[in-house]
Amino acid sequence: MTALVRRLAADDWATLRSVRLAALADAPLAFNSTHADEAMLAATAWQARLEEQAWFVAFKDERPVGIVSGGRLREHRSEARTLRSMWVDEARRGTGVANDLVDAVASWARDDGATQLMLWAIGRAGRAHAFYQRCGFVPTDEVREVAGRQHELMTCYLLQL
Ligand SMILES: CC(C)(COP(=O)(O)OP(=O)(O)OC[C@H]1O[C@@H](n2cnc3c(N)ncnc32)[C@H](O)[C@@H]1OP(=O)(O)O)[C@@H](O)C(=O)NCCC(=O)NCCS
Repeated sequence: MTALVRRLAADDWATLRSVRLAALADAPLAFNSTHADEAMLAATAWQARLEEQAWFVAFKDERPVGIVSGGRLREHRSEARTLRSMWVDEARRGTGVANDLVDAVASWARDDGATQLMLWAIGRAGRAHAFYQRCGFVPTDEVREVAGRQHELMTCYLLQL
């Protein structure tokens, strides 16, 4: 049976906290943030995240096995939405859960009036990069240094919706 993807509701902050911390503990180098910093966040900070972004969690047998968020951009590119915080439990990788999570954000972005989805991925190659390219994301020339991690770069990807 495939996983079920559900958008978290405003009061689901404890689920958001536990899945996001699991992601940071499992893949510390994949994100521009640390488990130590986010473990200290108060309930109100998690509640604010739920208000600011659309969070989707994949459940298998009622257990969370993946997470992703969709958000609006503050600056230019009003036609674009962002995909962030993508993670799938190691035991469920390669099973299509990651595709279902991207589909959920793409569908949310389309319904929100967007024509593009953008994301930043650390590095230039590896499993996440292969996955995003298979989904149709195209690497752009935009590259940024990862905050606090000297000489490490992030690549910007765009998907036309
Ligand atoms: C990124 C992630 C969500 C992708 O989900 P997934 O289930 O692993 O993705 P898939 O298995 O469907 O696709 C991965 C692709 O990379 C390939 N791959 C596997 N290991 C690889 C490696 N070490 N290097 C390069 N490609 C690799 C797979 O073969 C597959 O390509 P294919 O479908 O053409 O065969 C998941 O790996 C993950 O949670 N990683 C840790 C957190 C992370 O990196 N998040 C991204 C933050 S930007």
